[in-house]
Amino acid sequence: MTGPDASLALEKYRRGARGYDRRTRRADRFRRLAVERLALRPGETVIDVACGTGVNFSLIQDRVGPQGSIVGVDLSPEMLAAGRKRVDAQGWRNVTLLQASIEDANIPRHAEAALFSLTHDVLQSEAAVANVMGTFGPAAGARARRDTVDQHRALWDRVPRRLGG
Ligand SMILES: C[S@@+](CC[C@H](N)C(=O)[O-])C[C@H]1O[C@@H](n2cnc3c(N)ncnc32)[C@H](O)[C@@H]1O
Repeated sequence: MTGPDASLALEKYRRGARGYDRRTRRADRFRRLAVERLALRPGETVIDVACGTGVNFSLIQDRVGPQGSIVGVDLSPEMLAAGRKRVDAQGWRNVTLLQASIEDANIPRHAEAALFSLTHDVLQSEAAVANVMGTFGPAAGARARRDTVDQHRALWDRVPRRLGG
């Protein structure tokens, strides 16, 4: 893996999963901006890269609707467990959760867009970004690239560091 140590992320979010949404609530406007910039359409599939507790799922659901879908990928079992709870509580049937590092995840190849929200760790990993981008076909690829990595890096630069999770 090029980029940060996965074991550090695992340890950080093992401790940090509890209360994560509340602690990072002030980053919600950056989350909204990140989702808005994807310009999602009903019926689309979105990879929520390092989805954590699924804090962005409802923003995505509002845009893609029940015909669309979300593939949430995250390394941390604790963060994903919170995500699963959220999915169950909402009764969403169009969300797939994968516990894996983004670098190695076997990401389905039918998505139209990828969300990198507050994913500073992952954006530093060339292997992770390449794995996500490699899942897009030629038609979606240009849009996915434009909409995700550069803009999300720029957005991340604006997030106050103490809100980064
Ligand atoms: C700051 S949280 C962001 C969660 C969510 N996207 C949000 O908007 O709040 C960062 C997440 O990245 C995950 N993560 C860090 N490195 C990862 C990697 N290499 N592969 C998969 N997930 C990773 C962590 O487990 C954590 O859930």
